[in-house]
Amino acid sequence: MTLVYPGSFDPITNGHLDIIVRAACICDKLIVAVGNNESKRPAFTVEERVEMIRASIGDREDIEVTSFTGLLADFAKKVGARAVIKGLRAMSDFEYEFQMALLNKKLEPELETLFMMTSVQYSFLSSSAVKEIARNGGCIDGLVPDCIRERIARKLTCR
Ligand code: COA
Repeated sequence: MTLVYPGSFDPITNGHLDIIVRAACICDKLIVAVGNNESKRPAFTVEERVEMIRASIGDREDIEVTSFTGLLADFAKKVGARAVIKGLRAMSDFEYEFQMALLNKKLEPELETLFMMTSVQYSFLSSSAVKEIARNGGCIDGLVPDCIRERIARKLTCR
């Protein structure tokens, strides 16, 4: 079974990586899909976000990293995914994710949405928090994968 894990990943955090590694254990192939949503005014380009995810994951045949534009439901159908998987951090994520899951079901009735609880040590983490800390010269150790920490800090503190 193929699963799609979509997100903005601006940038990927250890919370995202936790979901990626765990989700890959319950499917044959996991497609990590970076949404190309310019309205969110991302700090990193789509290419940078894809590269940082690839660097964080390392060489794994069961995980593919790509980007998409347009509707998630159309992308999932195109790549033959049976379901979309999303991480849930807290009840505050639920309302928005529930709405998205229902919209995607309406657009593509055969597509399921699965939710995986974020590990407790990452329940407070978000990409915006990482960016705010880095922009202000704070320490992002332990919040993002080690191999991309310098790259994130360099880009955000140079602005
Ligand atoms: N660990 C840490 N942070 C997490 C997390 C986890 N496990 N799970 C979610 N988050 C955070 C993200 O860092 C992000 O934080 P931010 O807002 O500070 O950047 C936030 O939760 C939400 O992020 P994400 O899961 O990336 O969702 P999103 O709301 O940015 O949506 C898409 C991204 C690509 C899934 C969405 O825009 C999409 O589906 N686009 C296609 C258009 C479409 O089909 N829309 C639906 C029909 S209208």
